[in-house]
Amino acid sequence: MPIANGDLRSSVPRQNNTPEDFTRALDILKNEYPERDGIDIHTLTDSEKHGGLTYNDFLVLPGYIGFPASAVSLDTPITKRITLKTPFISSPMDTVTEHSMAIHMALLGGLGVIHHNCSAEEQAEMVRKVKRFENGFILDPVVISPTTTVAEAKALKEKWGFGGFPVTEDGTLRSKLVGIITPRDIQFHGAHSDPVTKVMSTDLVTARQGITLQEANDILSKSKKGKLPIVDESNNLIALLSRSDLMKNLHYPLASKLPHSKQLIAAAAIGTRPDDKSRLQTLVDAGLDIVILDSSQGNSMYQIEMIKYVKEKYPALDVIGGNVVTREQAAALIAAGVDGLRIGMGSGSACITQEVMAVGRPQAASVFSVSSFAARFGVPCIADGGIQNVGHIVKGLALGASTVMMGGLLAGTTESPGQYFVSREGQLVKAYRGMGSIDAMEDKKAGGPAGKDAKAQNAGTARYFSEGDRLLVAQGVSGSVLDRGSVTKFVPYLMAGVQHSLQDIGVQSVKELKSGVMEGSVRFELRTVSAQAEGNVHGLHSFDKKLYS
Ligand code: IMP
Repeated sequence: MPIANGDLRSSVPRQNNTPEDFTRALDILKNEYPERDGIDIHTLTDSEKHGGLTYNDFLVLPGYIGFPASAVSLDTPITKRITLKTPFISSPMDTVTEHSMAIHMALLGGLGVIHHNCSAEEQAEMVRKVKRFENGFILDPVVISPTTTVAEAKALKEKWGFGGFPVTEDGTLRSKLVGIITPRDIQFHGAHSDPVTKVMSTDLVTARQGITLQEANDILSKSKKGKLPIVDESNNLIALLSRSDLMKNLHYPLASKLPHSKQLIAAAAIGTRPDDKSRLQTLVDAGLDIVILDSSQGNSMYQIEMIKYVKEKYPALDVIGGNVVTREQAAALIAAGVDGLRIGMGSGSACITQEVMAVGRPQAASVFSVSSFAARFGVPCIADGGIQNVGHIVKGLALGASTVMMGGLLAGTTESPGQYFVSREGQLVKAYRGMGSIDAMEDKKAGGPAGKDAKAQNAGTARYFSEGDRLLVAQGVSGSVLDRGSVTKFVPYLMAGVQHSLQDIGVQSVKELKSGVMEGSVRFELRTVSAQAEGNVHGLHSFDKKLYS
C-alpha cells in the first residue's frame, strides 16, 4: 500500500538536535578527514599528471565568509618597492595604453604601461602627461590664437563638441592668456572671417598655478563663468578648469602614487636595443618611475645586460623584466637584478606565438612556476595575457601573481587610443592588435627613411623582430574588440568582482589568498571539459550577458 507523504514524515521519529549533534559534523570532519576537501596547489599544478593548465582548467573552492566583500583589501606589490591598491595593469600595446589609459588606470589604483611603438619624444610626452596630471585640471586644453577666425572657432566647436577655448598670444599653452571664447560669443556672429579677438571675453577670472582643485572649484562656482584658466606668475596659461567638469571631479582615493608624492606613478616599456638606452634617458627626464623591458622571450643576453645597466645608472628607477614562463628564465633575470617580473608567452588574446614558434606555456602553469620561485626572492610577478574575466584575475592571483596585465579586455574602453567604429555586424568596436602583428610591426610612427631595415631601427616596438630581419614573421593578429565604456566604470567592476570572489574563498586580502594557497588552506578542483560547459550559461534559448550596472 502506498504511503502518503504525511505518513512518511510521521514514520520518522522526531527528535530535537542536542548540542552534541551540532558539533558532530565538525568533530567527524576533524577526526576522519585529515585532508581538506579539494586538492592543494602542488597537486593542481603537477603537469606530469595532467599537463600544463590554464585558467579555465580549474576552480578555487569556497571557504568561510566571515567579513563583508568591501573589507577585502586588494593592496599588492608591482615591484619590490612599489605597492598598488589594486592589481590591474594595462598592457604596453599601441591599441591599449597611451597617456589617457595610463592616467585613468593610475587614478583607479592600478597602472598603465605606456607603449613604445612611437618615438622616444612622443613616449616621454605621455609620461610627462601622467606625471603632470592633476585630477580635474585640464592640462592640455585646446588653445587658439588671436588670429583664429570665428569660422575656425565654430569648426573647432563642431570637432571637439565643446566651444570654450582660451586665446593665448601665440595660440599655445604656456603663452600669455589674452581672452576666452565661449559658444555664446560666436553663436550669432555673422562675420565669419573676423578674428576671435573681436568677440572674445577679456574680463577674465583666473587662478594662480599651485591652487588646489578644491580652491579652484570654489572660485569657479562663485565666478559664474564656464571656464577657469590657471596661469603662472607671468599670466601664461598653464591649465584650465571647466564648469561642466565640476560635477565629474571625482575623488580617487586609491590613486597610485609614491609615498610623499602628489603625482601619479608613471610606467613605460622599452626594448633592449642599444638605442633604447637613450630612449630611457628621455623617459627618466620626463619623470618615469617604472620601466618594463618589453620582450616576448626575456631570458636573453640583451635583457640581462640592460637590467644591469638600468640598475647601475638609475638606482631610483624600478625595472620589470620579462617575459618569462620558466623558473630558469626567471632565475637569470632575478640574478641580473630585476624588481619585478612579467609572466606569459603565447597566452595573449591577439597572439599566435605558440602556433608559429612552437614555444610558450599554458598561462596557469607559467604563473605558478615563475611566481612561486620569484616569491623566494621577494620579486613580485605580473600575470600577463589571457585575462578574459574577473575569474581569470582571481586565478592569476591565486597562482601567485601579484598583479595581472590586460590588453584585449581594456582595448575597447574609452581611454584606449583610437576611435570607435561600427563593425560589419553593426556593433561598436575599437581596433586591437598584437604588437607582433604585421600591422603593428610595419607601423613605424617614429618616422625615418622608408624600407624594412629603417623600420627595424626606428620603430619603437622591436619585441617581435630583430635588427636586419629580412622578413617579418607575425606572432600576433590585428582585429577589433567590443566597446566596453569607460575604465572609470569597468575597473571598479573588476575590483568589486575580485573582492566578492576573495570573500567567497574566505580570504580578506590578496596577501591572505597567496599565503592560504601556499599553506594548503585554499583548495582547488580540476575541471573536466563537461564541468567547464556546466560552469558556463547553458540550456537557455537566448540571454543577455550584462556584467555590471
Ligand atoms: P590579452 O590581455 O590576452 O589581450 O594579452 C595581452 C598581452 O599579449 C600583452 O601584454 C603581451 O604580453 C601579449 N602580446 C601583445 N602582442 C602580442 C603579439 O603580437 N603576439 C604575442 N603576444 C602578444
